[in-house]
Amino acid sequence: MRRRLLALVLALATAAGVSSAPVAEAAPAAKHRITFDKYSLMLDGHRQFLWSGEFHPFRLPSPDLWRDVLQKMKATGYTAVSIYFDWNYHSPAPGVYDFTGVRDMDRVLDLAAEAGLYVIARPGPYINAEVTGGGFPGWLATQQGTARSDAPDYLAAADEWLTAIDRVIARHQYVDGRGSVVLYQIENELAATGVAQQNYITHLYDKVRADRISVPIFHNDRGRNGIWVPPDSGVPGTVPGKVDLYAWDTYPGGTCRPDATPGPPNNAPDWGLYGPGGAKGGASASPNTPGFTAEFGGGWFDYWGSNGTYPCTAVRQGPGYERVFYGTNIANGLTIQNFYMTFGGTSWGWLPAPVVYSSYDYGAAIDEGRQLRPKALTMKELGYFLQAVPPITKQDKADPVTPSSTAVKVYHNVNPDTQTHFYLPVHNPSKATTNDVFTFPVSTPDGAYTVPQAGTLRLDGQDAKHLVANFDLAGQHLVYSTSEIMTSVAGTVLLHGRPGEDGETALRYPREPKVEVLAGNVTSTWDAGRGDLRLNHVHNGLARVRVSGGGRPPVTLLLADSPTADTFWRLGTAAGPVLVRGPALLRTARFHGGVLALTGDTAQAGDLEVWGPGARISWNGRPIRAWQTSSGSLLTRLPGPAAVELPALTGWKQAAGSPESAVAYDDSSWPAATKTDTASTTKPPAGQPVLTADDYGFHTGDVWYRGHSRDPVPAQLSLDYGAGGAGMLQAWLDGHYLGRHVLPSALPAPPTSGTATFAVPAELRGSGDHVLSVMVRNNGHNEDGDVNDAHKEGRGLISTTLTGAAWKIRGGVADPVRGPLNNGGLDGERAGWSLPGYPDGRWAAAQVPAATAAPGTTWYRTNFTLDVPNGHDVSLGLTIGDPATPRSGGHYGALVFVNGWNLGQYLADVGPQHTFVLPNGILDPHGRNTLALAVTGDGGPGNGLETVALTNLGTVRGGVAVRLVDSPRYRPRPGG
Ligand code: GAL
Repeated sequence: MRRRLLALVLALATAAGVSSAPVAEAAPAAKHRITFDKYSLMLDGHRQFLWSGEFHPFRLPSPDLWRDVLQKMKATGYTAVSIYFDWNYHSPAPGVYDFTGVRDMDRVLDLAAEAGLYVIARPGPYINAEVTGGGFPGWLATQQGTARSDAPDYLAAADEWLTAIDRVIARHQYVDGRGSVVLYQIENELAATGVAQQNYITHLYDKVRADRISVPIFHNDRGRNGIWVPPDSGVPGTVPGKVDLYAWDTYPGGTCRPDATPGPPNNAPDWGLYGPGGAKGGASASPNTPGFTAEFGGGWFDYWGSNGTYPCTAVRQGPGYERVFYGTNIANGLTIQNFYMTFGGTSWGWLPAPVVYSSYDYGAAIDEGRQLRPKALTMKELGYFLQAVPPITKQDKADPVTPSSTAVKVYHNVNPDTQTHFYLPVHNPSKATTNDVFTFPVSTPDGAYTVPQAGTLRLDGQDAKHLVANFDLAGQHLVYSTSEIMTSVAGTVLLHGRPGEDGETALRYPREPKVEVLAGNVTSTWDAGRGDLRLNHVHNGLARVRVSGGGRPPVTLLLADSPTADTFWRLGTAAGPVLVRGPALLRTARFHGGVLALTGDTAQAGDLEVWGPGARISWNGRPIRAWQTSSGSLLTRLPGPAAVELPALTGWKQAAGSPESAVAYDDSSWPAATKTDTASTTKPPAGQPVLTADDYGFHTGDVWYRGHSRDPVPAQLSLDYGAGGAGMLQAWLDGHYLGRHVLPSALPAPPTSGTATFAVPAELRGSGDHVLSVMVRNNGHNEDGDVNDAHKEGRGLISTTLTGAAWKIRGGVADPVRGPLNNGGLDGERAGWSLPGYPDGRWAAAQVPAATAAPGTTWYRTNFTLDVPNGHDVSLGLTIGDPATPRSGGHYGALVFVNGWNLGQYLADVGPQHTFVLPNGILDPHGRNTLALAVTGDGGPGNGLETVALTNLGTVRGGVAVRLVDSPRYRPRPGG
């Protein structure tokens, strides 16, 4: 209850009000310590490798699915999650903040802690993030003061937000023993560094501390420029500011070509131990703090009008990229790495910034439909490796290593305390993708070797390998291995390498051990002089070797090829870690009452093999029978998912939805657009009224104008408007359709405003009563990345050549449950046509696909019932038109409402998105759902709604329990 109350924060704008806020909680005594040095962050003195993925809860409007994503991150080796909090998502108006339902940020922070992930909290106030206004609420566009500066009106607004969100974050700090937040970011990519910004950064730091945030604070530098480093850094050329840590972002991974095929790889940067030094690159922008990438590319966003690059990005920035680039970061000693994005999700409703369309899939490790991509499994290899080898949290450069081939370079580091050596062979240069065989010298307290001693070691294609020498692992002593360590549990070690490549592993024993090859083809050689057991094999499926009796505890070595290694999962339990082979996902593991209770997903029938505590297992709550194997594991089989049938979408109804275009339409209740002053950067010409929608409180989606005039109409009507990327305008003069204008989608910086010009037929031009009806679709406010108030570019009409007109304006009403970004001002939205339960019985039956259409907006509605088998997670999408082509060419678009939630925008002639992810929770997988499409276009043949169908984006047996998200139904307004 207390949490509930606290979640409903109504923050008041004054600083005094903030500090004396009645719900402020007493700061609990610190229970844990967070410290750091140049190597790493330490929690209660224990060094950490923060391996973090970016996740935006506001891009997944189904809180139970937050648990799904966070469990998937934990299972694939991440130790932390980085979360932007979007001011705009919570604040429909000054002083109003909402943290309920899909905006319940206490919930996501609880779930992160539950999943065992640390949290990097990033509440802005400015976040960029390809969200409208870069996170600024629409109402901030009406402020006079420069945003992201020390302007008093801006600072008061920023404080208002921070008061609200800090109250949430402060409840989840690791230091207080109440959560897992370990780091906190102020601002984002504040590249202006004048006095106004220095004051601003100081103000933010002090404000956040006053709000009882006690974890280390950092800023995210746009590139490795040394901007906002801690005051004591002392590096010439850097810009000090009031922060505790220095962090930066970078997206160096190479991109996809416009035709959506992968461009060539890039070289991986050395921004740490191996950098040239100095403020710009190198190790020393902040010599006393850990190397910290607040964002390192985990994909890239895609633009309106592209050819659809997400699948390509997932390949270009796929496994090879991850190994080379993230590996190079590891070799450079960067021990806090966050990958942006790890789950991109959906910029649903009017969340997108002008640059992006609804899907924010990002080519990320977890796709928009919540499926693990191959690159997620490579992340698992890397994340598990980092957890398996704690000495990697403290690395110094070691003696240079010269490999036998000049086509290869080998990074060589050592932990000064344990003398564990780390080698990272990559191509020379690292963008090369040749197939090169090499040897390299290993010299540790165990002796000197040329590695490998038998067989070959190679780099084939975009690849890098984390090789370790002189390391104690699961009771064994590893002299070196040319296989990579993936993980270990008591008595079992998992090593892996690329399929078909040789592996050589040397282990040291006091006396000759017994070697049993349980599976596969592995040769062993005993070097009595050194006490080395050398195992040689080819990585191919899964070889198993039992080593015992050498004076060390027995061990099972699992020697896998990397794809087979990717079928393993590891999680901790109170009784020690568990290693699992087989299922598509291991979500949770608990040891309780002698039973190892596992939960997870299967995508097909197959093995479940378990190395862990106890002899009894349950899977998804059911006890299962399993057999002991010679590998020290328990083995059984799990069923795959049942078949899933999706209903066809039929029974469509339709209704016309642009009544505002009619001459006789009654706009007497609409506000008059009579303002003469605006804070927007797009002022109207002298003498004309301010028309920009924000000035009248309409910040999102579609806005309608009606201009009344008695003057003759010019032969050419020009309408200046602002609408964001691929935004558009439709106009009618005296009920006659003039046309539609769509802002061009020039990549990668589409214009966000433009001029629509319409020829006016002679018979409409004479004097007398005229009404010009205009709808402007606002595809988002600009981000303010360059600190130039770009978010204040006007939206809606800016000026017209119907100069004598008196204007009325009307936009949307915020949905109190679905939030400020769900709705714009379409007549149908205002009348509840997007909602479940709307009585559409009298609407006309509709044909979908539709051969033709009327100009303006036509609403289509249907209901469908889903019957997904219990205990399954089926991820569904809605597909409009033919996904094989990025643009169908029809001059129309559609807003997709499912159970009243605006889940995206289709633009047939802009593209590229055809499939819209429908998250469970919004969707009822076991019941009736309402689909409403607001189809807006030119009308005429070829411009009608194309085929509409449900698409299965992935089925597993398993998943998390998903409760339905509150989706209020249509309720007639009092009085009819
Ligand atoms: C970064 C920025 C993020 C996001 C990203 C690109 O520069 O900090 O917010 O915009 O670029 O997706």
